[in-house]
Amino acid sequence: MNANTVAPEDTAARTALWRALHTELDPSPVLEDTIGLDLLAPSADWRDRGDMDPAFTHGMRAWVATRSRIVEDLVRDSGIGQYVLLGSGLDSFAQRHPDAAVTVFEVDEPGPQQWKRERLAELGLHTDRQRFVPVDFESDGDWPARLRDLGFDTARQAVVSSLGVSMYLTREATAATLATVAGLAPGTVLAMTYQPPTEQLSGADRRAREISMAGAARNGTPFISFYTADDAARLAREAGFAQVRVISTDDATARYFAGRDDGLAPAHGEEMLVATV
Ligand SMILES: C[S@@+](CC[C@H](N)C(=O)[O-])C[C@H]1O[C@@H](n2cnc3c(N)ncnc32)[C@H](O)[C@@H]1O
Repeated sequence: MNANTVAPEDTAARTALWRALHTELDPSPVLEDTIGLDLLAPSADWRDRGDMDPAFTHGMRAWVATRSRIVEDLVRDSGIGQYVLLGSGLDSFAQRHPDAAVTVFEVDEPGPQQWKRERLAELGLHTDRQRFVPVDFESDGDWPARLRDLGFDTARQAVVSSLGVSMYLTREATAATLATVAGLAPGTVLAMTYQPPTEQLSGADRRAREISMAGAARNGTPFISFYTADDAARLAREAGFAQVRVISTDDATARYFAGRDDGLAPAHGEEMLVATV
């Protein structure tokens, strides 16, 4: 291991394990993804952890799988050949879609990204279409320059995702990210999740949010920023995007979970902004 290698944040590991749980436990998964589990190689009893409880994670594992599925459908349907993942964590699009004619640029903090690179190499899963761009969004707004160094063509469109990241960043950092993406080539699409304020949640969704927030704070990665749908859309318009829409939990449920007889549906607690330059 390199001296700068840092294991992934608990949050990134958790979402990867939830995608694996969804793949293992739920019939007809919306996304089949066990690569993060392979990279993490947790101890055999990982499914017994409280945060992996099948009932507790039901809606959250459905959402975490769905948010990736929404973006991957966007990449496929758009035919756009550059996919930038901001806060990529243990995402495995590049491994699961080896035939897609898409160059994948993964942007994340340097230490965990180095860890991922080493694990991919150890498991023989590295692909040449995958470029790694170590960046801390709070201190380095000019990540497109770093992408360019690795072959990103700023004259061409891209799909840019930011999944499960905005709640950890200051509002200023997110506004800067929006402005940066809005400055990319016309037709570029940003898909960014945001968390609505806790007061907007009720019942099990609210309890899950409170538990997640407490856990994140304990791990030193507190949730610090929340957005209503109007707020997120306004920020995107102010950043200069030409078209802005939001995908609510109910929109995602109607699109990906209609007609299921197992009651599986995404939890409320995170939504998605889709903004086009
Ligand atoms: C909850 S994880 C989500 C990972 C992945 N997008 C997914 O859906 O599984 C949040 C990711 O954001 C990254 N992240 C958080 N703050 C960051 C920052 N300031 N700069 C760069 N990456 C950051 C973390 O390293 C982590 O990989």
